[in-house]
Amino acid sequence: MAAGRRGRVRAWFDAQLRPDGDGRGLGPVLMASLRASGYGAVGAGFGILALYTIPVVAFAGLLALLGAGRFLVHPVMQWVRILAGLERRRLQRLGHEVETPYAGPDAEPPRTLKELRADPTARRDLAWVFLHGTFGLILGAVLINMPFVAVRDVTYPIWWAFAPDSERQILSGLLDADSPTSAALGFATGIAVFALWLLFGPKLLELQSRPGLHFLGPDPEIDLSERVARLTATRAAALDAHAVELRRIERALHDGAQNRIVAVAVLVGAAKREVPRDPDRAVEILGRAQDTVEDALAELRAVVRSILPPVLEDRGLAGALNALASDCAVPCTVDVDVPGRCPASVEATAYFVVAESLTNVAKHSRAKGASVEVRRRGNTLTVTVADDGRGGADAAAGSGLAGITRRVEALDGTTTVASPPGGPTEIRVELPCGS
Ligand SMILES: Nc1ncnc2c1ncn2[C@@H]1O[C@H](COP(=O)(O)OP(=O)(O)OP(=O)(O)O)[C@@H](O)[C@H]1O
Ligand SMILES: [Mg+2]
Repeated sequence: MAAGRRGRVRAWFDAQLRPDGDGRGLGPVLMASLRASGYGAVGAGFGILALYTIPVVAFAGLLALLGAGRFLVHPVMQWVRILAGLERRRLQRLGHEVETPYAGPDAEPPRTLKELRADPTARRDLAWVFLHGTFGLILGAVLINMPFVAVRDVTYPIWWAFAPDSERQILSGLLDADSPTSAALGFATGIAVFALWLLFGPKLLELQSRPGLHFLGPDPEIDLSERVARLTATRAAALDAHAVELRRIERALHDGAQNRIVAVAVLVGAAKREVPRDPDRAVEILGRAQDTVEDALAELRAVVRSILPPVLEDRGLAGALNALASDCAVPCTVDVDVPGRCPASVEATAYFVVAESLTNVAKHSRAKGASVEVRRRGNTLTVTVADDGRGGADAAAGSGLAGITRRVEALDGTTTVASPPGGPTEIRVELPCGS
């Protein structure tokens, strides 16, 4: 109930403050300054925490340098990360997009000074702590103070006569106001501070947010070089996968269809020789040649199918996966929730992942049941194949799982194999599938 009301209040505030909103009068300007002071106060709160963090960081750093406080680096950096996370949330509330720059959700903060030196995101967090604990805090304090000083000074002439001696000041204690004239001046200073607050409140908030926006998002340069490194690696994986695939097709044609066609040539030659001597034997040999041609055709068909399974074209991903599951020796359920179609390369990879995983289930798992689940959320297709068998899948023990990883990497995706000894086994693949 309270949360709902809070949501409505925030929505109303946001509507008042929308830059393209219709109101330009005092109301929206006042609201913008109130909002600036509110968020500035929250920022000041984080600023106080950052201020107290500075000596802690310095102390831990010094001890670590002396070789005595290495164990302090990790908890201190963890706290810095929490603080940076709070500021990121504040900035997001303010409408800025600040992505978390860490390598992943499980990426640990540095544990030693050496790791800290090698971790640009941790150093950027620290830079923010120093700036926010000083300038950010001062700006926050100014933002909190301005409206109070304005109200106090504007009303000062009214209650000046009753104010105790120690309170006879205006402009937040900057000027003494010990005569009625100077008390009347309070009205003017109050109006001035109020005007300044209206004019500059949002700007001060922007200034206070700047270090966070600069230091708490991903470093654009690092982001780019990481991306280049990843692309280089996946391009290599794509070429590798391609080469492996060509080799497989070449072997299949060489060992299968080609061998059989050679056999047909030999048989036909033998039949030709037999025709004048023993026509019955020639007919028998030709019959064998015909069988072998049919085998060769079947082999060719299988090779063609393995390049891009036509069942995908005909029946879509869900249909193709259902066909795979119904061919599986272990009872298997299929649950596909994919609106529309994904790019052909993604569907083909998903198909091969499921085909290889189900072959493994039948070959190695001794499972009673298996399941295939495919989901598309936004731009990511997730394929999960699980079984309740004995576990212990190991990519190093064969070529199937390694092949899955290579194919998936070639599309910039990720593969996770969870298969503790004793089971169960879960192969989970995430594939980006364009827009
Ligand atoms: N679902 C599973 N349950 C239990 N063990 C598994 C499972 N999948 C794979 N394994 C184990 O992991 C090993 C590696 O599997 P992988 O698919 O890479 O190779 P493979 O199936 O042995 O050979 P191939 O190259 O023909 O696929 C298997 O030898 C098997 O011992
Ligand atoms: Mg296998």
